[in-house]
Amino acid sequence: MTPSVLFVCLGNICRSPLAEAALRAEAQRLTLDLIVDSAGTGDWHAGDPPDPRAQATALRHGVDISSYRGRQVKPADFRRFTHIVALDHNNLSNLRRLAPADGVAELSLMLDHVPGREGQPVADPYFGDEDGFEITWAEVVEGAKGLAARLRSA
Ligand code: 4NP
Repeated sequence: MTPSVLFVCLGNICRSPLAEAALRAEAQRLTLDLIVDSAGTGDWHAGDPPDPRAQATALRHGVDISSYRGRQVKPADFRRFTHIVALDHNNLSNLRRLAPADGVAELSLMLDHVPGREGQPVADPYFGDEDGFEITWAEVVEGAKGLAARLRSA
């Protein structure tokens, strides 16, 4: 079965689209067959493209995310995805609360996949400046590499 990964943050316009882009790029580099998507626990940005600062950051690193659109996480996601990866603890606890009894997805934090950074959050760059988005990018790339390596050897 093809592994499938859903990244979840609050708005689905900053961190989780960057995580989606980073894992898509890493899967392509490894020629790993993966389904990748992202969603938000909130619905304010449903239908919106990623934040312009997130788009610019991804583009600087060679990935065009302008066609991504925000959506809210839904119960079916817990049955459809093998892995749901939260960007921080608030989102992880909301996911635990939303998970239906017949959900199959394994829940984790993004940085659980980075040795030495288990249990740490990817900070929300939304209210900061553009530098924060570069930090986010570096963190989601580390998480994506760790996760892809794990999925490859599974
Ligand atoms: P994200 O960042 O969860 O990384 O997409 C945010 C985006 C929007 C808002 C908060 C965080 N907001 O309050 O609209």
